[in-house]
Amino acid sequence: MSAIPSAALKPQAATLPRTFMLRQYTRVRDYSLELTATLSPEDQCVQSMPDASPSKWHLAHTTWFFETMLLRPFSPHYQVFNDRYHYLFNSYYESLGSRHPRPRRGLLTRPTVDEVIDYRRHVDAAMQQLIEHAGPDAWFKIRPLLLLGLNHEQQHQELLLTDILHLFSCNPLLPAYRSGSDKDSLSPASMATEHGLTWLPQPGGTVGIGCIDTAGEEDFAFDNETPRHHVLLSPYRLADRLVTCGEFAEFVFDGGYQHAGLWLSDGWAAVESWGWTAPAYWMAPDEPEAGIEGWQTFGLDGVRPLDPSAPVTNISFYEAAAYAEWAQARLPTEFEWEAAARDPRMAQVTGHAWQWTRSSYDPYPGFRSAPGAVGEYNGKFMVGQLVLRGSSFATPPGHTRVTYRNFFQPSARWQFSGLRLARDNI
Ligand code: AVJ
Ligand code: FE
Repeated sequence: MSAIPSAALKPQAATLPRTFMLRQYTRVRDYSLELTATLSPEDQCVQSMPDASPSKWHLAHTTWFFETMLLRPFSPHYQVFNDRYHYLFNSYYESLGSRHPRPRRGLLTRPTVDEVIDYRRHVDAAMQQLIEHAGPDAWFKIRPLLLLGLNHEQQHQELLLTDILHLFSCNPLLPAYRSGSDKDSLSPASMATEHGLTWLPQPGGTVGIGCIDTAGEEDFAFDNETPRHHVLLSPYRLADRLVTCGEFAEFVFDGGYQHAGLWLSDGWAAVESWGWTAPAYWMAPDEPEAGIEGWQTFGLDGVRPLDPSAPVTNISFYEAAAYAEWAQARLPTEFEWEAAARDPRMAQVTGHAWQWTRSSYDPYPGFRSAPGAVGEYNGKFMVGQLVLRGSSFATPPGHTRVTYRNFFQPSARWQFSGLRLARDNI
């Protein structure tokens, strides 16, 4: 594997000692198993929709990534755990050959969860050897790919949670992934106090966006955050916090999902074809007159009363755009978002809900995919998707940057995606 994601080569990371990298490796790999510890083998096998993957598949695919991108090319004596896993757990890499069709991932009752865990142990032992004993020249190439592999696994940790929530939502028993009393309860935190919305004026002008390829303040960035470049912004205003469930409920009660005039054409088509009447996982009361008190939401900690001061999540780009229209505001561009993200007055920048932007997921000027398989990681998805900024309560700790670009199709709403409003400064 000749390809090195240049974006991953950052000076701090370049000097990280191997012991630190090994500790990071162990920590990230353990966290995936922690996330699945309370799931039964049945829970871990089912695929609830083509967009989502079984937990077991996430555990195996992230392992396959290390085996394919690191052990096969750099570990001469590595014994592949099972040759056929290459076909099963390749997600989308055309340059690595054919693969099991994505919508059929839930049919893989074999390998079993135990076998997947054995696969993980096998790869982890070989990775430890590689990290500790690779020669200095090899280590120079390994380090950025190792960082990519760890950040890749962290992305799958969040996907694992959004996918298991979707799966559980299909079960009339509505099981809780985690009980609310657990110390690491996974639900959107509500604002501590009653918090009115403040519009923060932003000067605009020429702003720097993204990360420099080879020298930046961060220790890792995906290639899609590069190259750093400049963007010219008109003055604008940004909300100092996210839109709450209470505010979104007003839109619902005001007939927001019935007024075609608030929606983009594709959004209205989605409302009609999917029958959307509220965000995903909102449960209307039996008596419609019950008001907001009667509503409940289904989350990773089960069914709860709707929390009006928690940020709204699980909305599509279309719903975010329709809400903004109704609120006489708009969605910020990803550049407006990034330029204001370090404003100390701005709350809920990361760690609450991903924030839809009005920016399509395009390459930054000068962007080049790396050669080889890792070049397929991000670049080839740069059409027909929208950028989300920030991070959510389900994003693993440390997997957050103000330059981070998440992306999904505009109709996707199984992620913990919400919105922050913007307005023109007029
Ligand atoms: C950035 C979340 C859209 O879901 O495919 C996982 C993350 N990339 N494996 C995705 C990812 C490669 C990616 N998203
Ligand atoms: Fe992946």
